[in-house]
Amino acid sequence: MNYLLVGGAGYIGSHVARELARAGHHVTILDDLSKGHREAVGGLELVVGDLGDITLASRVLEEKSIDCVMHFAAFSLVGESVEKPLPYYDNNVGKTTRLLMAMKEKGVTKFVLSSTAAVYGESAKVSIEETDPLIPTNPYGRTKLMIEQILEDAERAYGMKYASLRYFNAAGADEKGDIGEDHDPETHLIPLVIQAALGQRKSISIFGTDWGTPDGTCIRDYVHVSDLAQAHILAAERLAEGRDSMIYNLGCQTGYSVLEIIQITRQVTGHEIPAVEADRRPGDPERLVASSARIRSELGWKPVYEDPERIIRTAWNWHRGHPHGFEKEK
Ligand code: UFG
Repeated sequence: MNYLLVGGAGYIGSHVARELARAGHHVTILDDLSKGHREAVGGLELVVGDLGDITLASRVLEEKSIDCVMHFAAFSLVGESVEKPLPYYDNNVGKTTRLLMAMKEKGVTKFVLSSTAAVYGESAKVSIEETDPLIPTNPYGRTKLMIEQILEDAERAYGMKYASLRYFNAAGADEKGDIGEDHDPETHLIPLVIQAALGQRKSISIFGTDWGTPDGTCIRDYVHVSDLAQAHILAAERLAEGRDSMIYNLGCQTGYSVLEIIQITRQVTGHEIPAVEADRRPGDPERLVASSARIRSELGWKPVYEDPERIIRTAWNWHRGHPHGFEKEK
């Protein structure tokens, strides 16, 4: 199959690109390199350009005879989306709509969306299911929910088939250790804790210690990026077989608190990692833990990395080998 990975030079996209190539598929990456990294693309084909450039997207779809588009090019920071909502609506909703228009024009009918647990908002449930209420608490989650709704409409009107994969907290790095997480600025918990272990920052701040959880810190469901990649491949294969559109949670079904993640990282790295209490971060839900029963039973997906210690070990391996991340564009 011929895949176009929009945002394929970023953290999750580059891992999916690698797994698709390993599975023998042809991969073209479209990325403006504003957040992605040329080095993360490896030897795969890279077109540098904007997600919302219909002319460019149409040309690539046609020239590469694309069967399926996977979209990883959204802005994805909860806190930033609260402070700067408009670029989130522009990039995540406006530009994605233009990408879908290019697909419609070229008759490409298969689409895989990186959606998010943030579409659920403050779920009261211990284990979140796909059928639970969708009440996002921040603009980021709202943009992803809007795209899911647009996809529903596009399916009805044009017969477009999609897989919407609602990631919980993506973490870790490819076992080989040559690609991993490199955001600027970094805001995610595990890479920040590792930076503290490497002595690149003095301490890790804990955003809130008065949440209604056993140790007072927020709980998340961490899922390895290579397991996410396998889920993309399974979903795309089913779409290719003519299956209906699908919506799946991707998580390991166990929650870990911020304090637990810091403690596990201390054990993995052997470093002390000073932690300081800080205010809550606006937009953060208290607890997000998946039920991923649906994709497990329907597609046979099973995460290889269910133990956070193993996830953190792969992240530590990448960061230790690349203390300054990827090579930066000149
Ligand atoms: N946290 C800290 N200190 C930090 C950074 C984070 O305490 O310095 C806490 C956060 O408050 C949160 C947890 O660690 O409770 C995880 O935070 P991340 O920033 O790593 O991840 P988020 O849960 O905010 O968001 C991530 C993705 C989103 C996605 C969401 C789904 O960035 O795109 O997971 O759960 F929607």
